[in-house]
Order: sequence, then structure tokens, then C-alpha cells
Amino acid sequence: MSTYDEIIVDLADRRYPVYVGEGLLGSIDSMIPDGVSKIAIVTQEDIGILPELRLPSQIFYIGDGEQAKSLSTIGQLCSGFAKMGINRRDLVLAIGGGVVSDTAGFAAASFHRGMRYGIIATTLLAQVDAAIGGKTGVNIPEGKNLVGAFWQPSFVVCELSALSTLPERERKCGFGEMAKYAFLGAEGLDRLPLRSQISACAKIKASFVEEDEREGDKRALLNYGHTLAHAIEAVGFSDPRVNLKHGEAVAIGVIFAALLAQKLGRIDQARVDYHRRVVSSYGLRTELPAGIDLERLIAAMFKDKKSFGTLTFILDGSSGVEVVRDVDASLVRAVLTEFATQA
Ligand code: GLY
Repeated sequence: MSTYDEIIVDLADRRYPVYVGEGLLGSIDSMIPDGVSKIAIVTQEDIGILPELRLPSQIFYIGDGEQAKSLSTIGQLCSGFAKMGINRRDLVLAIGGGVVSDTAGFAAASFHRGMRYGIIATTLLAQVDAAIGGKTGVNIPEGKNLVGAFWQPSFVVCELSALSTLPERERKCGFGEMAKYAFLGAEGLDRLPLRSQISACAKIKASFVEEDEREGDKRALLNYGHTLAHAIEAVGFSDPRVNLKHGEAVAIGVIFAALLAQKLGRIDQARVDYHRRVVSSYGLRTELPAGIDLERLIAAMFKDKKSFGTLTFILDGSSGVEVVRDVDASLVRAVLTEFATQA
């Protein structure tokens, strides 16, 4: 293999490596677990990365965007796997960004009640977040990622050469997820070479997943900025004015979390300014989309998976970020209204 970093996600008998480097595609054969006799490759037409594999394989293309992350795609994949005749010891290989790894991972978790799967992550967002940690799932009309399973891969490859053809907007989405790590123990990332940045994020993610695989309060911290981000995305499903991708929404969510933390007396203005500096340093916008319906945002935040009927946020404070439950809706509305005037 070429030069690479290897990060282990240590989940005892389900431990697996995350490789970060360039030129890893020629080594995929060496990562295939013992006993695999066929490989179902799940990818998208425009990814354009297909490693040469020693074992027989079949390619399954899924559509683009969040619409492709659906139960109907899972049905199509599982029918395809059945026709291909793969068994439980075979491998599903996801090649792409978060849409592909979430969907292929959930198909792998479901078909034959659980197959092995590997991931070649080709977007920055997948490399620093989505591909690591075994969260798989799809969207339903009622919300994003509402149906899924924790199902860990056998290996993750973060192939850096794939990033050279990544559209600028997709790269920025990755930076949106990367920005949150500055508040989870990785300050000054932007001063490091890209490989080191990705590896640092992967290490932090691995440590959170090892401690709390199925998302109690510890892993939930990885969702810093996501309470508002998911709400923005939910509103965006039916409001074309809200044309933001996940990473862009996370960047705005991180700023909102800082403003809310300040309102609650948890952090001071200097710390809010630091949040703005980190997010802006990645060239990401820090304001809400103009005209977004604030009441719809609040309603969507009540439906967040962390919320259990009250408003729950991950907020910065003197002991770092932590889960804060039962945040008063009128206070959230006030901060949101003030934030919207900055758009
Ligand atoms: N994206 C957050 C997590 O994997 O827990």
C-alpha cells in the first residue's frame, strides 16, 4: 500500500481499520475479509471509481442526493443482491459519499439479517464523519435518517485522490462537518495538511464511537450544530428557498449553538467570535437562509432524535460541549429571531 494513516475503531470483535491516504484503491483486495466469495458494489454513476477486484462482483447504481436514501432504494438493492445470489459471508462494498455509505450500509445490515460491508469514502464529508461509526439508514417523508441501524463496516478507505475531482460545494460540506471537530478536541486543524486533518477527525470520531457506539450522551456530541442543521434540511425538503446541503447547514447550526449557549450564560462573546472565525475560515456561510420560516424550524427541532419531546441541544460551556435538555422554546425562538435578522 502507498503511504497512509491507519486509525482503528476498536469495538472488540468488531474492530476495524480506517485507512486515510492516496493510492489505496489498488489494495482493496487485501482488505476483503476471509470467506467472501462475491462482492456487491453499491455506488452512483458519477462517482467514477471502481477498483479492480480479484473476486467476482456486480455493480448496483443508486440515484443522487437525499432522495436516493429511501426505503425503495433499499428494496431495489436487496432484490438485486438476492438475484445476484450473495450470501451472508459475502461483502457489500459502498463506493461514494454519505448517501451511498448510509444506504448501502443499511441494505447490508438488513439483507440476510446482516452482511459484511466495506466503504471506499470518496467525499470529504464521508471521510471525516459519515463513513465512520456504523450509522446506516435512510430517509422517510417524515424525516431524515429516521429508519436505520447501527451496523459497523469491516473497513473504511478514505481515498484522498477522490477529493481532487470533488465539486467545490461538496468540499465545503466536508468542511462544515470538520468545523465541529474544533469544539470536540481538534483545535487548529486548518493549519495541518489535509490528510492529517482527516486523520485527526477520524481519530476523534473513532474514540467517541468506541466509548458510546449506540449514541448515549457521548456520541451525541458528534452532532454539535446538528439540531438546527437537521431542522434546516427538513424545512428545505419543501421550501426551495432553503437550498442548503448537510455540511452547509451544520456550519450554520454550529453558529446558532454558540449564540444559544451565550444566551444561556454558558460561553462569552469571545467564544462566540471564535465559533464564527472557525466556520468562516472554511469559507462557509454563518447566517440562516433569508426568509426561512422560524416556526417550522422550531417544530422540526422538537422532532430531533435527541429531543424526546423537549428541545435538546449540544452546547458549548466551561467544561466543553455537552448535551443540554429541556431548553425553553421561547428562548430558542428569541435567539433564532435575532440570528435571522443577521441574514
Ligand atoms: N454523524 C454523527 C455520528 O456518526 O454519530
